[in-house]
Amino acid sequence: MNELALHGGAPVRDNPIAPSGERFGDEEIRLLTEVIRSQKLNCNCGTRVKEFAQSFADAMGMTHGVMVTSGTAAIHCALGAVNLNPGDEVITAPITDMGTIYPILAQNAVPIFADLDPDTLCIDPEDVEKRITAKTKALLPVHFCGNSCDMEPLLDLAKRHGLAVVEDCAQSFNAQYRGRKVGTMGDFGCFSFNQYKHISCGDGGVAVTNDEDLNERAELFSDKAWPRSGDRRDHRFLAPNYRVTELQAAVATAQLTKLDWITDTRRDRGDLLTSLINDAPGVHPIQVYPDGECTYWFYWLRVKEAVRADFVSALRAEGLPATEGYIQIPVYLYDVIREKKTYGDSHFPYGCPPFRDPDNEIEYCEGLCPVAERVLREMIRINLNEFWTEQDVQDAAQIINKVAKFFARN
Ligand SMILES: Cc1ncc(COP(=O)(O)O)c(C=O)c1O
Repeated sequence: MNELALHGGAPVRDNPIAPSGERFGDEEIRLLTEVIRSQKLNCNCGTRVKEFAQSFADAMGMTHGVMVTSGTAAIHCALGAVNLNPGDEVITAPITDMGTIYPILAQNAVPIFADLDPDTLCIDPEDVEKRITAKTKALLPVHFCGNSCDMEPLLDLAKRHGLAVVEDCAQSFNAQYRGRKVGTMGDFGCFSFNQYKHISCGDGGVAVTNDEDLNERAELFSDKAWPRSGDRRDHRFLAPNYRVTELQAAVATAQLTKLDWITDTRRDRGDLLTSLINDAPGVHPIQVYPDGECTYWFYWLRVKEAVRADFVSALRAEGLPATEGYIQIPVYLYDVIREKKTYGDSHFPYGCPPFRDPDNEIEYCEGLCPVAERVLREMIRINLNEFWTEQDVQDAAQIINKVAKFFARN
């Protein structure tokens, strides 16, 4: 029983743990059909997009919401609304999707990366503080993988330095921090509904806020800054078209009714798994702040870099389809960021007058965020989701404990 399946022993599970179920069903079809029958697919003709944005904001306990084409677009609308100037600096996380970073550069602002807390993989407020300069204008914390960032010190920094706060909640629907949902603590909370998120409409996003003026600007930003009122057509400022269709809103509306079940189930399964593997030698499971709630976009743990590949092979042989890591390198080491491939050959706004500061050139290089670089080499990903049963969790824990004991002995 103790011999690893990888070495010829009996696996804990004959059939690998990979539960999945139908995420989209009759209600999505019904609402989609309703939209098609209405003949109104565009959000300025129909009402679904606006209704969904309001329902989502209500569900988060916020007053306003703007629904757009993606999570990237939601962040872009939020940054457009807070009105950054070229060369302004926005502090964000090095382990995230490019959708967090693109909107910063699209507004000709400069992403600055703060290092992470290795237990939550959310940005470390102390490191954020060290990276604040006179040019810093916003914080863009990424609530990573179902967890919440340590928001109180971040909000305190924002207050002291007069910074806008845009929360990237794409991976952390319904996560809680000291009794508050993520997305409700900064100026904006931004969510993604791409295929892989807690709820999905294929692609889509929403930015929620309690500030009426910011909401108005974000709404304008999503539609070419065209107010669509009055006789005379006008465009108030430079803005893209991020309009989403009524079809996506129909699917998202049906999905929203399932959100609490999805996040509650993931929270319970993930917390149970942590409680069962907490003593596994050499294993560092994802940690949740003591008074927080994690909704596990996926489940991750860390082991020593030297054993990770073999550890993953052993987990898989026992029936737990784990994989190595999430992204392979921090986003600042992607060519686009590292080599500042922005607009033509200009590298704008880096190195361009009047934004250039020869005494303080921004450099993206290895060593910029050592914790982030290390944890990406140690992380193991387990695709826990709402279709896992408690038995699946028990089996996963048995597998992790078995494999961990082997690697601790050898
Ligand atoms: C943390 C984070 N931010 C932003 C995004 C961008 O979302 P979208 O793919 O909807 O543009 C993602 C998507 O993967 C994400 O995980």
